[in-house]
Amino acid sequence: MLQRSAKPRTSSSIGVDPAFRRDVLNGLGARPLTIPPRWFYDRTGSELFEAITALPEYYVTRTERSVLAEAAGEIAELTGPARVVVEFGSGSSAKTPALLSAVDPALYVPIDISADFLWESATRLSQLFPDLPIHPLEGDFTGTLRLPVAAESRPRLGFFPGSTIGNFLVPDAVDLLRAMSVTLGSGSMLLIGIDRIKDADDLESAYNDSRGVTAAFNLNLLHRINRELRGSVPVNAFRHVARWNDREARIEMHLEAVRDLRFDVDGQWFSMKRGETIHTENSLKYGARDALVLLRAGGWNPIRDWSDKKGLFSLILAETGRHRR
Ligand code: SAH
Ligand code: AVI
Repeated sequence: MLQRSAKPRTSSSIGVDPAFRRDVLNGLGARPLTIPPRWFYDRTGSELFEAITALPEYYVTRTERSVLAEAAGEIAELTGPARVVVEFGSGSSAKTPALLSAVDPALYVPIDISADFLWESATRLSQLFPDLPIHPLEGDFTGTLRLPVAAESRPRLGFFPGSTIGNFLVPDAVDLLRAMSVTLGSGSMLLIGIDRIKDADDLESAYNDSRGVTAAFNLNLLHRINRELRGSVPVNAFRHVARWNDREARIEMHLEAVRDLRFDVDGQWFSMKRGETIHTENSLKYGARDALVLLRAGGWNPIRDWSDKKGLFSLILAETGRHRR
């Protein structure tokens, strides 16, 4: 049962997001050059991310899926039925059926900034779960969000899979976890996927796949700038770079200029020297205990965590609104 209380806005029905323009113009004018990863996800970016999840090198999605499948029964016992499941950055909602089947929720609220993708995924899910009310929310999960009226008076279960938390630096991740606890309210639980620190070669190949899909995902940001902000960025003059930064425990993605460049975006001119990069994404990885510390710092008390045999990925259930143990 797809709830259409608000008319879905699609990327073709809204103009350019002013926050996109601001982040791009500020980011290209600063040194080092940086653009936040949330802008990867226009329709093409969301589709390319889906293609990444199926790559042999990208262990993240298949590992989390198998951990979730193993843990689903226990998760259901710990959460109880009839919660409102609120998914942050739901994308294709591909992992969601395993959770929804186990926890038997009263309502499902997927939240994403990629509008077209959000509505298409919700429509697909409503065919799988015809009796479940589904209320998609198009928006930015980094702020506190108002949940639909139908979510009032029911306990909530936040679902934040995919290690999307890793795309935030630690202070921002803590702010985000706190914002989630405000959005979800007291007595809520959170099921979160967090990717672990592992062998640097395995990490680098997960973000530098042999088929070039991750490169296309990274470079699509430049195509999006050209399309939406009337840019003249010479996309062919950039190359995708993904490297493990051991000190910061993160994979960094960059777009490196292969020659000296000059281009304009929305009427403003920018130049880059050969070898300079635009830093487009961090993907922080955590040790098993670091992940628990992060959750505590964000106001959540971990109650149970699961992992695969190789310890590649953690799935953690936490609760808020109670005293710390
Ligand atoms: N949860 C899915 C998708 C992860 S990709 C999985 O586990 O595979 C990250 C998702 O978060 C994308 O769908 C992207 O559009 C969304 N996203 C990124 N930043 C966001 C933000 N600030 N607010 C809302 N959604 C965001
Ligand atoms: C969505 N996010 C957790 C992915 C990640 O692994 O950091 C995005 C991604 N970037 C490159 N590949 C996948």
